[in-house]
Amino acid sequence: MYVRYGLQAGDNAPNETVQMWLDFALSSVERGRSAVAAMGGRSVFGAARVLDVGCAYGGFLVAAAEAGARLLAGIDLNDELLSLARLQLADYQITATLDRLDVTSPDVVDGLGRFDVILCNDVLEHVVDPEAAAAHLTALLDEGGSLFLQIPNGRSVDFMLRDGHYGLFGITLLDRLRAERVWAGSFSDTYGVEHYAPLSYYLDVFSQTGLSVRLLNKPPDDLEALVEDLGRRFDELEEALAALSPAEDDPDLVEEMRRRGHHEIEAFRHQAGLYGASVVGAEKSIIARSLWSTYELTFWELIGRKLIR
Ligand SMILES: C[S@@+](CC[C@H](N)C(=O)[O-])C[C@H]1O[C@@H](n2cnc3c(N)ncnc32)[C@H](O)[C@@H]1O
Repeated sequence: MYVRYGLQAGDNAPNETVQMWLDFALSSVERGRSAVAAMGGRSVFGAARVLDVGCAYGGFLVAAAEAGARLLAGIDLNDELLSLARLQLADYQITATLDRLDVTSPDVVDGLGRFDVILCNDVLEHVVDPEAAAAHLTALLDEGGSLFLQIPNGRSVDFMLRDGHYGLFGITLLDRLRAERVWAGSFSDTYGVEHYAPLSYYLDVFSQTGLSVRLLNKPPDDLEALVEDLGRRFDELEEALAALSPAEDDPDLVEEMRRRGHHEIEAFRHQAGLYGASVVGAEKSIIARSLWSTYELTFWELIGRKLIR
């Protein structure tokens, strides 16, 4: 994993962003274990046929094997990552079928078989056609099967301040082409994020494939403190947008970041105002939970079940 970033095992990363990528790569088994536990662990994975879509380093397949899966398959577009997955699986003495396949290609539905559990962690934001991906994920799932998705929330206030892929300010507020222009100021390989869509988009896309998907994340107990804390971070966002310098930076990018940023700030403050003004407990709780899933959660964890007809 270190070699991928031009480092030797145990080296310090040259900056916070490379450290973030290394941590992500090195924690794949641990992150896989959390996802497996969030889905129900052995009761869901025991004797299951499991497919990891966008399996990269293979850690989620390791976690599925530990929870008793009987058949493991992984697909990814990237050959280098598939090789790392092979090494990791060999370290754990786990047998899995790994293929270089694109989840948006119709070929994926033929030849892989059907699965009881499909994992798709931090992948959908990278695919050009999420609707095709959703249709294929649902088709690959057997009746009664479960799908786990983790998707980053570009409107979370933390990711607006510093995105989870490159550690850049404001990039999640922009459309694909503008985001790439911001990214090109700091990086030179390939910009990899296709889109940041709202939660309602993903729920809708999957419901159109016949899969009902729900959020696994649990809201905090103290919703009052959550709304206050979000308010402080939106103040921080407002200050950071004001501090951007159009003269030095690309004026169109700064203008667009400010326009979209202020739209989110106003939308948040409007909802926070309704929360503060409401005296009805149930209504307060609905508003606060909506603020939580829209602006607090950095990643949505979702589970979908394919009903038995
Ligand atoms: C951010 S990584 C996540 C990797 C892994 N799921 C994890 O959480 O450690 C996204 C992965 O999705 C893969 N990917 C992107 N688009 C894909 C596609 N259309 N079909 C299959 N894999 C894809 C990438 O090559 C990459 O390995």
